[in-house]
Amino acid sequence: MIELNKIYCIDNLELMKQIDDNSINLIYSDILYNTGSTFKTKDNQIAYVDKIGNTEDVINFYEPRFQEMKRILHSTGTILIQCDYRLSPYIQILLDKYFMFQDKIIWKKTETGKGAKALKALSKDYDEILYYTKSSKFTANKISKPNDVVSLKEFKYFDENVEKYFKIVPLGMYSKISVDKMRENNEIYTSRTGKDYKKYYLTDINETCLSNIWVDCHNLYNGENKEMNDYPTQKPKSLLERIVHMFSSKNDIVADFFCGSGTTLVIAKELDRQYIGCDISEMAIKISEERLNNNNTIYKNNKE
Ligand SMILES: C[S@@+](CC[C@H](N)C(=O)[O-])C[C@H]1O[C@@H](n2cnc3c(N)ncnc32)[C@H](O)[C@@H]1O
Repeated sequence: MIELNKIYCIDNLELMKQIDDNSINLIYSDILYNTGSTFKTKDNQIAYVDKIGNTEDVINFYEPRFQEMKRILHSTGTILIQCDYRLSPYIQILLDKYFMFQDKIIWKKTETGKGAKALKALSKDYDEILYYTKSSKFTANKISKPNDVVSLKEFKYFDENVEKYFKIVPLGMYSKISVDKMRENNEIYTSRTGKDYKKYYLTDINETCLSNIWVDCHNLYNGENKEMNDYPTQKPKSLLERIVHMFSSKNDIVADFFCGSGTTLVIAKELDRQYIGCDISEMAIKISEERLNNNNTIYKNNKE
């Protein structure tokens, strides 16, 4: 088994071949999107070229890597692959072959929505995070968000019998039997016009379940954010914090095989997880090292 809490400057397929079976608890990778772009730093140095080739090249590149990821992922482990809407259909078909589909998370990068080239076009300001597991037994720590002030304002009705505030929502598809039962349990509010609604008391829902559309982990833009390390596709810590917290536990091994500037590894370290980082770009490894702020050995093509 390779050493943990290190970052490796090597092709990830070569590194994965050196990792034990069933040993990694969480794999997150923000992969090559195959956009054809060359990503550069502010001072015009090439960070990496985001190009694989045609569809066949993409499949030939990713398939052996996903096969290895399946072998090294723990039987209760989780794998999250981030890419854009152009690549995701192909990646999803490949992942379906090797893993169990759980969900597709939409990460909306900004609130305003960048990317539409003309007023008639729709902004494509999101990435997809494909969420799979190796089996039906896996880690998913509960994430809920406290109700915000806006949603609390909806609790404007007061039930004097139980002395609690409540909000109402239309009944929808409940059967008459269910509605009668709810009425017996004091769960129905009837408006002055005679329309029935379902009551939700404030104490029943003081947290809201997180949806699979994430709008609150804002992307970083060069020069606008202190967190930015001049790695062109660096992802925000808030996104990785949610992922690592949600899909792994303390001391688990978290691996990012396309680690770029090391965001996943920084968060894994902060949240007391062990990590393995890998990137083929020397610039990525240098930035990851600086962010991790320790003397990690860097392996280059198996040489220390
Ligand atoms: C989208 S970026 C990752 C950015 C990262 N999430 C961050 O927060 O900085 C993809 C990375 O994959 C790396 N990469 C591309 N092909 C690779 C390979 N075969 N092995 C290892 N890394 C590779 C690139 O150098 C690039 O840094």
